[in-house]
Amino acid sequence: MKNIAILCSGGDVSGMNPALKHFVEYSIKMGLSPYFIFDGFEGLIDNKIKKASYDDVAGILTRGGTKIGSARSKRFMTKESRAVAKKNLDNSKIDMLVVLGGDGSFRGIHELHKEHGIKFCAIPSTIDNDISQNEYCLGVDTALNIIKSSIDAIRDTASSFSRAFVIETMGRDCGYLALISHLTSGSELCLIPEVEYDLNSYKNDFKKQIKNGRRYFIAVVSEGIKQETKEIAEWFENEVGVESKICVLGHIQRGGNPTVYDRLMAYKFVNHAVDALLGGINSSVVCYTKNGFIHKEIDEVTSQKYKIDQKLLNYIKKS
Ligand code: F6P
Repeated sequence: MKNIAILCSGGDVSGMNPALKHFVEYSIKMGLSPYFIFDGFEGLIDNKIKKASYDDVAGILTRGGTKIGSARSKRFMTKESRAVAKKNLDNSKIDMLVVLGGDGSFRGIHELHKEHGIKFCAIPSTIDNDISQNEYCLGVDTALNIIKSSIDAIRDTASSFSRAFVIETMGRDCGYLALISHLTSGSELCLIPEVEYDLNSYKNDFKKQIKNGRRYFIAVVSEGIKQETKEIAEWFENEVGVESKICVLGHIQRGGNPTVYDRLMAYKFVNHAVDALLGGINSSVVCYTKNGFIHKEIDEVTSQKYKIDQKLLNYIKKS
């Protein structure tokens, strides 16, 4: 019987637990022995490897986070640590790995593959939705729904006073979460790193809207923009003349009960990953595209920067 392992690396997402559950079930169905590697690449170096069974994944489908833990591993960046990781995999007779994570995690597993021939398949899993060649990363739908509920709730209180709320979303240097949240929550302003902006170009319009009876504003800003969120709030106070409040959504965006879409995507991503490894595809990323799931060589994915669809960006560009 062949052994196959799974690990989660980098920021966790809601959808990892459904992926773990399906990984165990599908691997067994395909005649493989599934293993868990706990705490990402850190656990791989420290030999936190354990055979997985149905019992381990019972009841986890509905939970956010990851039952097997995740980590950001600086140690894995060294050749020495990767050699230890390879030894640990050999000791458990594992030569196939499924990796859930983002760009940094993909680079890590690629190094292990290049140096030691470990076969892997990577599944894009980051709320940032910033993996090139790929339209959807596991966990994004749940994060967007959490943001949606938060903005809807803030709107209730914002409309009760005359206030501006500046809501900061995660995403590092990718504005996807902020952009989609803006479009689907009807906020008045959206600022993301991908689109140049000049706050002054909004000033007269916002002041006119207040004169015409508008009571509140909602602005969705991505954490990666050129200004601090508090500077945007100060601009509302000083230039538009409306009291302002800040809400940094932070890590609540990473948790919560996985949506139906993320549960289903977890299922499909895992199927494609295990099938790829069984079919002899040894260093790929499962990418979800307009044409369905495809496998892309890891180099092609990590060597390019993700670009948000221009049509979406145009929605917030000032003409
Ligand atoms: O990459 C996912 C992410 O949630 C980013 O959006 C955010 O900037 C970062 O991770 C936060 O990292 P940490 O959980 O290590 O503070």
